[in-house]
Amino acid sequence: MQNDTLVFDLINKELQRQRNGIELIASENFTSMQVMQAMGTVPTNKYAEGYPGKRYYGGCEVVDEIEQLAIDRLKKIFNCSWANVQPHSGAQANGAVYLAVMKPGEKFLGLDLSMGGHLTHGSPANFSGKTYQAIHYGVTKDGLVDYEQLETKARAEKPKMIICGASAYSRDWDYKRIRAIADEVGAIVFADIAHPAGLIASGLLNDPFDHCHIVSSTTHKTLRGPRGGIIMLRHDFENPWGIKDPKGNLRMMSSLLDLAVFPGTQGGPLEHVIAAKAVAFGEILTDDFKVYGKQVISNAQAMASAFVKRGYNLISNGTDNHLMLIDLRNKNITGKKAQETLDKAHITLNKNAVPFDDKSPFVTSGIRVGVPAVTTRGMQETQMETLVDFIDKVLMHIDDEKTIATVAADVKSFMKDFPLYPQLG
Ligand SMILES: Cc1ncc(COP(=O)(O)O)c(C=O)c1O
Repeated sequence: MQNDTLVFDLINKELQRQRNGIELIASENFTSMQVMQAMGTVPTNKYAEGYPGKRYYGGCEVVDEIEQLAIDRLKKIFNCSWANVQPHSGAQANGAVYLAVMKPGEKFLGLDLSMGGHLTHGSPANFSGKTYQAIHYGVTKDGLVDYEQLETKARAEKPKMIICGASAYSRDWDYKRIRAIADEVGAIVFADIAHPAGLIASGLLNDPFDHCHIVSSTTHKTLRGPRGGIIMLRHDFENPWGIKDPKGNLRMMSSLLDLAVFPGTQGGPLEHVIAAKAVAFGEILTDDFKVYGKQVISNAQAMASAFVKRGYNLISNGTDNHLMLIDLRNKNITGKKAQETLDKAHITLNKNAVPFDDKSPFVTSGIRVGVPAVTTRGMQETQMETLVDFIDKVLMHIDDEKTIATVAADVKSFMKDFPLYPQLG
């Protein structure tokens, strides 16, 4: 019985919004019904500070099994020897990695936010930029990670950690090259694969685990699970800083990371979300998920070509993954205006700074477009043409309310062919 109609009416309104619209926010996806069902269950009532088999509360025998299942499945997906499934989000996962590796004031090197990096990679507005000394590499004029700059800065600055990974970068990463420079300067390599994790899980992109000491991710983007974070190691190793446990043994990196999640940065884990992570990881281990991953990349490439055909300027001229970044300056439209106008036509995406942007982050010169969510709804290459047609029509008639209203109606009827959660009525 749902008595709180105020809240449940709003949740239903959000369901209708998701159903009727075209979701192109690159960091969003639609979980399966069973992932959502697992989230709304009784483990939410349970306190379980600690880890399976070593908790600070009684009655944890069942949530121990749930959490262990999530860990085991995740280890299998990425062929890892250790995983922590407790981080409440991607930012929390990254916070724990910093805490495990860095002391306040120490130096790390990450991709600049304005070049596609994430806030937690050293933005002055974020704990990572406030607590540690963040230095940054960027991308070249062609929109590709500037590995030469990364190498020069690493040699000059000798950071303790080098972060690779991004929020708005459409190309694959050369993890091997980053590891080589990290070894030369004595740095830890930390890959934040929040965006492409699902494609890496499907073996469709370079494997960061071969070369990076520590890997973190969100679970709700291309991995298509509940909102949350994870941290993984393919090979555990003794910490190189001589940190010992109370018995005088050198701590393994896994032990430092576990301690950094709990009690370092979090209290009780969200066992209902961990149950949903376990369900999602089970789905990722099926062949269907590989088919999904392949379709995501094919759709992104089809969409990229459709944009290029219509004269849009794609950063790096295309994509290897699930997203693309479009510079709208040649169309004389800001990212902000594009986002707001497309919203009116039920097309959601986000404004995004493009490399070397001359506009503020609140305005921006670009948009980021991603296909994981529309691919989950069953769209294929031909539909990518249609989506680009809708977007182009809106952007080319940006102040024409009548055309925008026509596209909005067309979008709504087009989306009827791609049902979302029909079980929810
Ligand atoms: C690369 C990267 N890392 C971390 C995060 C943070 O994840 P969350 O929003 O779950 O804290 C994001 C989210 O967009 C991201 O893109």
